[in-house]
Amino acid sequence: MQQTIFFPLWSTQEQIEDFLNQYDVEIGQFEMRRFPDQESYVRIDSQLKGKTAWVLAQMHDPNPKILDLVFFLQTLRECGAKRIVLVAPYLPYMRQDKRFKPGECFSLVVFANLLSPLCDELITIDPHLHRTNDLNEVYHTQTKVLSAMPKVAAYIQDNIQNPLLIGPDEESQQWVSQIAAQIHCPYVVFRKERSGDKSVKILSMALDAYSALQPIIIDDIISSGHTMIETVKDLIQQINKKPICIGVHGLFADDALANLMRAGCQKVITCNTIAHSTNQIQVLSLVHMPTQ
Ligand code: R5P
Repeated sequence: MQQTIFFPLWSTQEQIEDFLNQYDVEIGQFEMRRFPDQESYVRIDSQLKGKTAWVLAQMHDPNPKILDLVFFLQTLRECGAKRIVLVAPYLPYMRQDKRFKPGECFSLVVFANLLSPLCDELITIDPHLHRTNDLNEVYHTQTKVLSAMPKVAAYIQDNIQNPLLIGPDEESQQWVSQIAAQIHCPYVVFRKERSGDKSVKILSMALDAYSALQPIIIDDIISSGHTMIETVKDLIQQINKKPICIGVHGLFADDALANLMRAGCQKVITCNTIAHSTNQIQVLSLVHMPTQ
């Protein structure tokens, strides 16, 4: 008897195919919809007793989804799932990782406390671990963190000649150094001062020695796009080269993509943790799903 059952939530067909990769598993049947008054309705129509339920949930723009997810995971449990594994390739609410001002909601912790009891394992890709070093500092369930960087490195190696990796801020040092070590190319790391959601100042460094190389800006998240935009502007001013921008999670709030292209970016490339037209790097097959 098959012991694994798979439920995709808010995921595209491309994401499902990448995730399922070589796996031949039972696909769970369910209904998730809204009543006319917008309250949530969830019904699971598959036999769950003794099975491990794998839930692949595309979790960007989380607010309209979160209650549906809570109802769904709790219903899996009540219908007899032996184990619930939540795969959130992009894990939201990771960036309010402290109370920056008195009275602010520490939303990372509140969100983690909401999800933790509902799943036995949480798997995610490159979560925004900055002031929090380890997901288990806040998530009280088993966690697994995967990195898209080996796939990003392979993409660069196969598609871009003479790369110079640019980390736009100190946090990105971890990613550019890892990629540079894998494909043997130079990297530099800038510094960033953020004074608001859309207000970012990049403190760069002289790049004359690298002017023959193709700059590639690497970051985990592209949200408002301003981190990338200010870095693009600096590179064009300094070495007159249109950079390529690579982000793991392309949130693209408002007109972020258009603004990035207008700033002089040559091309924007993202991983498929969030489905978007810029997806060029398939990373969901990084998740290993045992089927026995
Ligand atoms: C934060 O430091 C992250 O690593 C990203 O740099 C940030 O989330 C990007 O946000 P935005 O696109 O709004 O500048």
